[in-house]
Amino acid sequence: MKKYYFYFVLLGTVFFNNCSQKGVPVNIYDSKEYHYLTEEDIMAGKSIWENSCFRCHRDGTNGAASIENEEYWNHTASKGIDALFKSVWEGKQNKNGYMPPKGFCNTCSEDDIRKSVFYILHLAKQARNIAPVN
Ligand code: HEC
Repeated sequence: MKKYYFYFVLLGTVFFNNCSQKGVPVNIYDSKEYHYLTEEDIMAGKSIWENSCFRCHRDGTNGAASIENEEYWNHTASKGIDALFKSVWEGKQNKNGYMPPKGFCNTCSEDDIRKSVFYILHLAKQARNIAPVN
């Protein structure tokens, strides 16, 4: 009986986990949050960008992607806000460099970091619009 109980719990766990997963992430550019960003959200994101994120993401230093790297940011947008928030909040390492936790914005709250992620994607779209066409 004990054995069956074990399998029952196991099955239940697998089933529960599958159902509770949020499913496919929503591309940032298709998300409601992105479309309903207020002027205040953008300004908050901008100030974080100017104090922290730009150090690496403006020109693509320390292993980061430059803000003009269209392909990179398009792909990044598809990962959705939850995954991107986690990367910035906890930091991310690749073979060329390292993003420190909170992307160097040590005073940032979780909400601030979310805004900065939306802002960086907003900026990436703008950067590509103003980038010279070769
Ligand atoms: C010290 C350099 C540095 C700073 C400062 C920095 N980043 Fe990064 N960022 C990186 C690196 C390195 C990566 C990893 C690149 C890769 O391989 O995808 C990265 C990746 C990202 C990604 C993609 C994460 C993913 O999972 O695909 C986002 C979004 C991002 N940064 C946003 C920000 C924001 C927002 C800030 C400011 C709050 C910031 N970064 C500050 C270096 C930095």
